[in-house]
Amino acid sequence: MLSRINPSQTPEWSHLRGLANEFERLPLKERVHADPSRADRYRLEVGGLVWDYSRSASDDAIWKGLEALAERMELSVAIEAYFKGAPINETEGRAVLHTALRSSETAPLLVQGRDVRPDIAEVLGRMGRFSEEVLSGTLRGWTGKRIQSVINIGIGGSDLGPAMAYEALRAHRRPEVEVYYVSNVDGSHLAPLLEKRSADECLFIIASKTFTTQETMANAEAAKRWMLEQGMPEGQAERHFCALSTNAPAVAAFGIHPDRMFPFWDWVGGRYSMWSAIGLSLSIGLGHDRFLQLLKGAEAMDHHFRQAPWSENLPVKMGLLGLWYRNFLSFPSLAILPYDQNLHRFAAYLQQTDMESNGKSVGRDGHRLDYPTAPLVWGEPGTNGQHAFYQSLHQGFDRIPMDFLASVRPSYALGQQHSMLLANLLAQAEAFMNGLNPEEARKSMQAEGLDPSETERLLPYRVFQGNRPSTILWLPELSPYYLGMLVASYEHKIFVQGVLWNVFSFDQWGVELGKKLAKPIFKALLEQNPSGISDPFTRRNLEQLLSAEFPQRFDDR
Ligand code: F6P
Repeated sequence: MLSRINPSQTPEWSHLRGLANEFERLPLKERVHADPSRADRYRLEVGGLVWDYSRSASDDAIWKGLEALAERMELSVAIEAYFKGAPINETEGRAVLHTALRSSETAPLLVQGRDVRPDIAEVLGRMGRFSEEVLSGTLRGWTGKRIQSVINIGIGGSDLGPAMAYEALRAHRRPEVEVYYVSNVDGSHLAPLLEKRSADECLFIIASKTFTTQETMANAEAAKRWMLEQGMPEGQAERHFCALSTNAPAVAAFGIHPDRMFPFWDWVGGRYSMWSAIGLSLSIGLGHDRFLQLLKGAEAMDHHFRQAPWSENLPVKMGLLGLWYRNFLSFPSLAILPYDQNLHRFAAYLQQTDMESNGKSVGRDGHRLDYPTAPLVWGEPGTNGQHAFYQSLHQGFDRIPMDFLASVRPSYALGQQHSMLLANLLAQAEAFMNGLNPEEARKSMQAEGLDPSETERLLPYRVFQGNRPSTILWLPELSPYYLGMLVASYEHKIFVQGVLWNVFSFDQWGVELGKKLAKPIFKALLEQNPSGISDPFTRRNLEQLLSAEFPQRFDDR
């Protein structure tokens, strides 16, 4: 059982509160520039990844204070419980063992008395063999055509991780197939994709831990209908459908043969499941050997996280910094800014992992927390964001810390564009920290040839406050191995924060209410009868939608 300590009642928390008051007295840029040694000291190298936190809003005393809080919150006990399979997802009575999926250890790992390692190895082996069957053309469609389109139908954790990784590893894809990810129940996601496909070259992967998720099941049914309409003979579904799930009876009821079901287990959380059978689309799309490399990278980070002292522990430091920002500097959100187009789904992936895990306001003791938890996580790749929302990051009201990510080697070299990309990253980090004071802004306008009165008129708008903290996480390259390390470092960062915030990070009760309410509303729409809906506003919305009050009549054929 995880501890129930309320962090805000600890002396370490009070100490950090005092440090925050002191810290805010001096502008960040002055603090940072007063200690040039930060450029080397505030840098952590872990197995090739380099985290530069020299521009973070922190100092030595704060790090010491945060590490003391981690001790007080019994972080090491929690980490061991996590890796050893204790049922730390207490509200669902489950272990949390995504780390076992990428572990090469052989000592038995028991969950409710059963060693999970042979089960993991068996499924991984089946994934490898199946991927090879698809890629080699041993598995073919009902007309004998090779499988060329692999369509993963899933949502949330059954989509975001693999979809993000398939994009990230574009340069490592196998040429034999193209993988597509369909998540939204909006027909606009699946229908246009099917329009362009020949049914006999499609393999559908129905990815759903529960196999009851409304969106996924609707899209899966639609795919099955389409295949039959396109002429797939009954009894040929096993060439075209497979399932990734924990729910064998529901998979069978859908009509997928047990040989085509790749199971995983309730101790794999949806948003932590890309390492399990949920990664099948990656095993096919990248090749199984590269999928194994992804697991290896993650395992390297697991070892580091479990062994390194707090002061050299990447996920711990990332977690502590995030907590400091949220609870002591009151930063409301976290921008994820990869200077790597291939990481364009990384922020979306992290949104679920972080916000579904730690977006909680009730502690492990069942009481409402008196401090905020998960920040809003969002972001887009640079340099695109520079031409969109960076205005607000530079001169907007809120200070928003930024996680820059970049690869030293490009995935695709194109002229000097990688240098241009990295130059932009470094320029932004510098600009966010240093800003531009009135004197500098004045000089720059003079250099542009502006006359003195125009210079003074524009001056207030052209000043940058600076003091915006950022970190840079450098990857040697965006390979399967380093992506594995990257993802695992964020997973563990989130774990650390959950422990210190005293929340249960591995449930997600907050998604249930909307799902439940959607059912009667859906029924009312189908029956065109909103009278049974009790909420007057929803009922009125439905009446409007179903009547002629909208310019376009509601039509769902
Ligand atoms: O609605 C949230 C959620 O339960 C996520 O936690 C999960 O990743 C997603 O739905 C999909 O669930 P499933 O894999 O069971 O379809």
